[in-house]
Amino acid sequence: MNGSETEHTTVVVAGATGWAGSALARGIIEAADLDLVGSFSRKRAGEHIGTVLDRTESGGKISGTIEEALASKPNVFVEYTNPSVARQNILAALDAGAHVVVGTSGLETEDYEVIDQAAQAKGLGVLACGNFSITAVLMMKFSEMAAGWVKSWEVIDYGSAGKVDAPSGTARELADRLSKVGTPSMVVPVGETQGEEQARGATLGGTQVHSVRLPGFVLSVESLFGAEDERLSIRHDAGTSAGPYVAGGLLAIRQVGKLVGVHRGLDTVMDLS
Ligand SMILES: NC(=O)c1ccc[n+]([C@@H]2O[C@H](COP(=O)([O-])OP(=O)(O)OC[C@H]3O[C@@H](n4cnc5c(N)ncnc54)[C@H](OP(=O)(O)O)[C@@H]3O)[C@@H](O)[C@H]2O)c1
Repeated sequence: MNGSETEHTTVVVAGATGWAGSALARGIIEAADLDLVGSFSRKRAGEHIGTVLDRTESGGKISGTIEEALASKPNVFVEYTNPSVARQNILAALDAGAHVVVGTSGLETEDYEVIDQAAQAKGLGVLACGNFSITAVLMMKFSEMAAGWVKSWEVIDYGSAGKVDAPSGTARELADRLSKVGTPSMVVPVGETQGEEQARGATLGGTQVHSVRLPGFVLSVESLFGAEDERLSIRHDAGTSAGPYVAGGLLAIRQVGKLVGVHRGLDTVMDLS
C-alpha cells in the first residue's frame, strides 16, 4: 500500500468464517491485488482458511486470538465479528499498525470517538460501513438528495419474520442521514394522532420509521416522499446471500489506506459527484 502500484495489500479478516466475513474472505482470495494473510475465528482456529472457504490453500491457518492473527502485520484489518468484541479488536489492529475496515454493526458513537483518537494518533484510517452494499449506499444517497427537494417523507423497513431487531441498521442509518438534511414536515404531528399513535411508527431523528416483519421478506428499505399530487419512492431490496456486501467491502479495503481517523459510510470512498 505504501510502495509501488503493483504492491499487494495484505489483509487480515476477523470473522472470516461467518456469513458476511466468509464471502468477503473469498473475494479477497480471488482479488489479484489483495492477499489474505490472516483470519480469526474461535471455533475454527487451527484449520486452514482456504479449506474452510472451499477455496485453494491460500490464506494460512485460522488464528484463535486477535493478537496471533495480527502477528503478520497486515496493511488492513477487517472487523466482521460481533459488537461485543469489535472495539477491542479494532484498537488492537490500530496498535499493530493496520488500517481498519469495520463491517460489524452496533458500535456506539462513544466507541468511535475512542477509536478515532487511536487512529489519529497512529496516522491510520478507519472506514466503518453500516452497509457495504453499493446499491444500498446509492439508495441512501438518492434519498438524501430527494430530501433536499421534497419536504415530507417517511421510511418503511421490511424484514424477515425472524429478524429480531427493529428498525434495521440500514433504516436507522437512512433516518440518521435524512435528519442531517432536515426534519420532514407533517400536517398532523404524531402527538396529535387520534386513535393509536403507535400506528404512525417510531420517530428516529424526526423521521417516522415503520418496520414490517413477515415471512416472504428478506431485507428491504424504502423511503417515501410525498408532495402535492405526486409521490416518489426509493427502495433497496437485498437477497438472501452475502454477495451484495463483497464489492463494497473490497472497495473499502482498497481505499482505507488513503484515510486518517474514523470515516463513516462507504460513500466516503465512492466518487458520487
Ligand atoms: N456492513 C455490512 O454491510 C454488513 C453486512 C452483513 C453483516 N454485517 C454485520 O457484521 C457482523 C457479522 O455478521 P455475520 O452475519 O457474518 O455473523 P456470523 O455469521 O455470526 O459470523 C461472526 C463471525 O465472527 C466470529 N467471531 C469472533 N469472535 C466472536 C464473538 N465474540 N462473537 C461472535 N462471533 C465472533 C465468528 O466465528 P467464531 O464464532 O468461530 O468465533 C464468525 O466467524 C454483524 O455485526 C452484522 O450485523 C454487516
